Amino acid sequence: MAEVLNGTQTDVQTFQNLIGGQWRDARSGETFESRNPARTSDVVGRFPASGPEDVADAVAAAKAAFETWRLVPAPKRGEILKRIGDLLTERKAEIARAMTREMGKPFFETKGDVQEAIDTAYYAMTMGRQLFGHTVPSELNNKFNMTIRRPIGVCGIITAWNFPVAVPTWKIFPAILSGNTVVFKPSEEAPHSGMLLVQTLLDAGLPEGVVNLVQGAGPTGRALVEHPDVAAVSFTGSTATGSKIAEMAGRMVKRVSLELGGKNPVVVMEDADLDLAVEGLLWGAFGTTGQRCTATSRLIAHEAVHDRLVDMLKERAAKLKLGYGNDDDTEVGPLINQAALDKVEYYLGVAREEGATVALGGERATGPGLDEGFFFQPTILTGVTREMRVAREEIFGPVLSVIKVSSFDEAISVANDVPYGLSSSVYTRDVARAFQAMRDVDAGITYINGPTIGAEAHMSFGGVKATGNGHREGGWEVYDFYTETKTVYVDFSGTLQRAQIDNVQD
Ligand code: UN1
Repeated sequence: MAEVLNGTQTDVQTFQNLIGGQWRDARSGETFESRNPARTSDVVGRFPASGPEDVADAVAAAKAAFETWRLVPAPKRGEILKRIGDLLTERKAEIARAMTREMGKPFFETKGDVQEAIDTAYYAMTMGRQLFGHTVPSELNNKFNMTIRRPIGVCGIITAWNFPVAVPTWKIFPAILSGNTVVFKPSEEAPHSGMLLVQTLLDAGLPEGVVNLVQGAGPTGRALVEHPDVAAVSFTGSTATGSKIAEMAGRMVKRVSLELGGKNPVVVMEDADLDLAVEGLLWGAFGTTGQRCTATSRLIAHEAVHDRLVDMLKERAAKLKLGYGNDDDTEVGPLINQAALDKVEYYLGVAREEGATVALGGERATGPGLDEGFFFQPTILTGVTREMRVAREEIFGPVLSVIKVSSFDEAISVANDVPYGLSSSVYTRDVARAFQAMRDVDAGITYINGPTIGAEAHMSFGGVKATGNGHREGGWEVYDFYTETKTVYVDFSGTLQRAQIDNVQD
């Protein structure tokens, strides 16, 4: 780790892009810094601020590599994914330490992030032997019908900083397993984590040019989306940026997968196990400092348990230990940057103006070990109604809005009354309510008696409404995104057979 001596750091490293197997600076020579959000004088490194010319180089390298990679048998590609999983396992602690330093979530969480990447790698390995098509009977004699899967080409992968290893692998691993090649732009808030991932892929024996890395911010991502040789784009981030990407991709008629915002509810009914619900709420709302697209940001509580639940939550949330995530006892890390802190403070202002009560927290967290980072107190807002902005808009911070309801039907109606639909949860012991929630909650994911976070690699992941555009990550469904279906007809009759004409009796 770099040493910080009275604010003067002695060993700031400069990192490079990876293009066609070569580590390279941006052509312009421009760089940007990544800093530790818990200790802002700690500079993690300098990274290339890549321009359209660097993106073009990376796309050209990916395009060249595609011609050989697409012909490697999928089970062989799977073997490389296996080696990637093994190497990530070996490097898990080392990579997680670096991730925590760069983006702030505690070490136990960044280890989980790397584990999610490992699971995704091993799942991709198994898919190498399962990239199935269909065979279906033809309507004609002596004719064989089937579908096969083909890779699409160069995929542009643009990701957020909150899962700086797991989420890129949700995209990169199925992309390359399917025979595509990749240009990956990590978030400018987590370039070092992205670099460590790519370095691991290279060390595991992935051929040069199959995955290329370009560092940078919005303009770099834009150049990638707009490049005519990028056939598909997969993006995780805000709804505002996702909508711009969809617009550009739409104009160019390219495939795009969007994983965007959330305003995820937990419904707690009067028959719920309240101790269990409190555990889930603490983890869902304040884990990753609330900076997950799946974070619990609304608690919809039945009036019969509302007051008790809020008291239990306040007591536990007040005791959460904030700090630097690489310190052993830290439970909650900082927000990612000043803009995130400003946004959370802004929404606290909105909450007060709208008439919500700040039942816990509500302020920047200060004190020993906190003053030099973007720390915010775990915050609970009560007296929130479904119309309030704090009940409808994504805050992406440690803020839980509590809405009181008097029936299960009202709870479902409130749960659905937002523009987003990613994750959701219901705590109840009533099996009928559980099934009703599975059927009626407008979300891509519903948990029963568990928090809104904790997706597993082999399960499909994605949301409805403004959360996405209908594609899914994880599970086998993601392989539909990274492959094109080709329909093949083999006529072995030796005669011209005309479908819909020769086989119909008029
Ligand atoms: C995200 O925040 O973009 O289920 C992904 C979860 C994690 C993934 C979150 N496994 O919360």
